Amino acid sequence: MKNYIVGNWKMNQSLEEINAFFTSFNEIFPNTSDNVFVGVSPQSFHIPLLMSHPKKPEFINIGAQNCSQHKSGAFTGENSPNALKEIGTVFTLIGHSERRQFFGETSNLALGEKIQSALDEGLQVIYCIGESLQERKQNLTQSVLKEQTITALKNIKIENQDQLLIAYEPVWAIGTGETATPEQAEEAHQWIRGFLNELPNINQETPLLYGGSVKPENVDALLAKENINGALVGGASLKGDSFGKLCLAATK
Ligand code: PGA
Repeated sequence: MKNYIVGNWKMNQSLEEINAFFTSFNEIFPNTSDNVFVGVSPQSFHIPLLMSHPKKPEFINIGAQNCSQHKSGAFTGENSPNALKEIGTVFTLIGHSERRQFFGETSNLALGEKIQSALDEGLQVIYCIGESLQERKQNLTQSVLKEQTITALKNIKIENQDQLLIAYEPVWAIGTGETATPEQAEEAHQWIRGFLNELPNINQETPLLYGGSVKPENVDALLAKENINGALVGGASLKGDSFGKLCLAATK
C-alpha cells in the first residue's frame, strides 16, 4: 500500500519561509517513488502561489485545510470546493480538530456534507477524527472515534474510493510534542478499520494516516505498524529538511 505524508501548514509560513522550505526540501528529497504520496496544505490564498512556485517539485500535491459544503453563495470567509478544484487543488482536510475546537465544526452531520461536496467536485478528502485528553482518560476513545467515523461517512456516496483518506489525530497529541505510542495509534487505527466494516459504502482499505507530533525521530516506528498508512504533520512539516526526512522515511 501507498504511504501518505501530508503537511498541514496551518496559519504559518511567510513567502520567505516557503522559499527556504523548498530549498532545503529539494536537497533532502529531490525525487519521489510511486509508493509515496506527498502533500502540503498551505493557507488557502497560498495555494496558487505554491502550485506555480519555481522550486516546488512536480510531485508535491497541494491541498486546502478546509472546504465549505456549499458550492457558492453568501458564506464570508469560506473556501468553495469547486473554486478549489478549478485552481488545481488536489485534496482538502475536513474536520481538523482545530476547526472543531475553534470554529464550531462540531456536527459530524455537517462534516458529512462537506466531505460529500468535496468528493463531488473531485477533490481528495482527508477526514480528520480524534479524541480529546479528557475523552481518552474517561475511556471514551473508541466510542468517540466510532461516532465521528460513522456519522460523517454513513451517507457518503463515493465512486472513486481513492478519493477518501482518514486521519486519526488524538487532540492531546497535536502540537504538544506528545505523540501517541505506535501501539496506541495502531489500536485506534484497528478500531477505525472495524468501523469501516459497518459502512458498506466505504472501502475497507481506506488509507489511515496518524497525526499528532509526528517527526523524523518517531515516524519509522509509526509507519511500521500495519494499519498506519501515513502521517498528517503540522510542526515538523514547516521546515523543508524535517518534512523531507519524513518523506524519505515513507519510501522505506
Ligand atoms: P502537529 O500537528 O504535527 O504539530 O502535532 C498535526 C496536525 O494538526 O495535523
